[in-house]
Amino acid sequence: MYSKLVEKCRAEIVYANDIDSLEKIRIRYFGKKGELNLLFKSLVKCANEDRIVNGDLINQAKNIILKYLEIKKENIKYQAVESKLLNERIDVSLPGIRSQKNIGNLHPLTQTLQNIENIFVNIGYNVVHGPEIEDEYHNFEALNMPVSHPARAMHDTFYFSDCQYLLRTHTSPVQIRTMEKNVLPIRIICPGRVYRCDYDTTHSPMFHQIEGLYIDKEVTFADLKGTIEEFIKIFFECDEIDIRFRSSYFPFTEPSVEVDIRRECFSNWIEVIGCGMVSHNVLNVVGIPDIYSGFAFGIGVERLTMLRYGISDLRILFENDLRFLRQF
Ligand code: FA5
Ligand code: MG
Repeated sequence: MYSKLVEKCRAEIVYANDIDSLEKIRIRYFGKKGELNLLFKSLVKCANEDRIVNGDLINQAKNIILKYLEIKKENIKYQAVESKLLNERIDVSLPGIRSQKNIGNLHPLTQTLQNIENIFVNIGYNVVHGPEIEDEYHNFEALNMPVSHPARAMHDTFYFSDCQYLLRTHTSPVQIRTMEKNVLPIRIICPGRVYRCDYDTTHSPMFHQIEGLYIDKEVTFADLKGTIEEFIKIFFECDEIDIRFRSSYFPFTEPSVEVDIRRECFSNWIEVIGCGMVSHNVLNVVGIPDIYSGFAFGIGVERLTMLRYGISDLRILFENDLRFLRQF
């Protein structure tokens, strides 16, 4: 008899989908005039034995219904949290709203610097940095250029009042600073700004170099030549490029060469790199034993940018004319 009541109540509970409707069901069965209460009251009319049996049955029905109500209540609460989480979820993978404004692009020199760095990092070179305000010892003396050396004349620059410090004229002092640490072998590049008293279509007073230094046992000129040729081919994304190794002189390398490139857009060869085998005088100054040898190079970043994009006067790179810069 009570199983019908339990079944009826269960069906109502199944269809309740919020706490309010569940509460209404509870009142309908357990309120003052609720069905179960009326059943309990009707027990008064029963004979003693029947009252005990019926009382038990009604109690069982009551406990089952209470359990159903409790389970359903938990269920509704859980569903509410779930749907809240679902509705308030933020999709972090959704792309943001792009700015409609032109956000600009990297300066062509920055692009060249990054390209060169990537090429050397890919073949195992580390990137290091050195100071732009350099002392006279690292910029000249340790590089085999004592005070009266004529090569200093080509590197005129800004000196600070006591003449001990200057704006570095090349990135080569970073060779000395790296070798002084005496951690061998060495394979580094050093990008950075350098300063000279220069100004024409292929020279600016401030420009960028990337120094390279490789010191190990049995490093030869063939390694230097192979590295430079390979670098140039990768940089210009072209295997057929006119490269010329022209013998030259630097006080800190022996032998020394300068590397020129010729491209269709320019009638002349343009010098892009100075390099050579590191002089043993320099290795002695920093205390590297004679069983080691190595090569060094200094790449002109503006010159490579000129050749890559067909720019005839490199000074335009520093004029900040947006009509020019927007092309890159
Ligand atoms: C040097 O500065 C040496 N330190 C290079 C070097 C490093 C030699 C390691 C041996 C071993 P040079 O003065 O030639 O060399 O300059 C190197 C490159 O910088 C030149 O080939 C050229 O590409 C670029 N360069 C030189 N002066 C200027 C300038 N005023 N404006 C723009 N680029 C320049
Ligand atoms: Mg030169």
